[in-house]
Amino acid sequence: MLARVICLAIGYVCGLFQTAYIYGKKNGIDIREHGSGNAGSTNALRTLGKKAGALTLLGDCLKCVVAILIAKLLFASHQGNDLLLLELYAGAGCVLGHNFPFYLKFKGGKGIAASVGLLLAFDWRLFLICAVLFFGAFFLTHYVSLGSLLAYFGFVVALIIFGQMGTYDCTQPALYEMYGVAVVLMLLAYWRHRQNIVRLIHGNENKIFLRKKR
Ligand code: G3P
Repeated sequence: MLARVICLAIGYVCGLFQTAYIYGKKNGIDIREHGSGNAGSTNALRTLGKKAGALTLLGDCLKCVVAILIAKLLFASHQGNDLLLLELYAGAGCVLGHNFPFYLKFKGGKGIAASVGLLLAFDWRLFLICAVLFFGAFFLTHYVSLGSLLAYFGFVVALIIFGQMGTYDCTQPALYEMYGVAVVLMLLAYWRHRQNIVRLIHGNENKIFLRKKR
């Protein structure tokens, strides 16, 4: 139990690095008062341009990779299944730190770029599956939120399928706990996107076009 709490805490501290907020402040704005109000890469792109969007994606993604690497190093002596679970806790902590930074009155982002880092460091195959789902939805509709929601659902389903296929060197309890953490992360992402979901239902969600329309 202590190892889980330590990994969550490591992740939370890493997640406090708010790339979009810092970039916005350097440009004289609080990103949370512009666009969708979200301190994330989509809103950084929308509000401050492509460079801001790309740097935010990179920064938020890397902090989760770092959190998982620290957990890996710190708990290297834990065997396969335990370590995988601890990695997931470190990633989950990072998403929590990103979404609820205490020093910004708990008003951060929606945790998607941080989750990209989680997938990359946790299992690149899950990352590839989610990337296909995300870009498929995004290029068809230009809704980043829809792509994010679909990819999160894909993450949980793919994790469970991989787990049940015996892909992970895990005991049954550790495996089920991993599924549980993934489901909680998905529900959190859906909750953070609740306004996007309402807009998607009403057909007035903001679209993102990477190229200028002619
Ligand atoms: O990464 C968050 C994305 O899914 C939606 O962002 O700014 O359009 O609410 P936003």
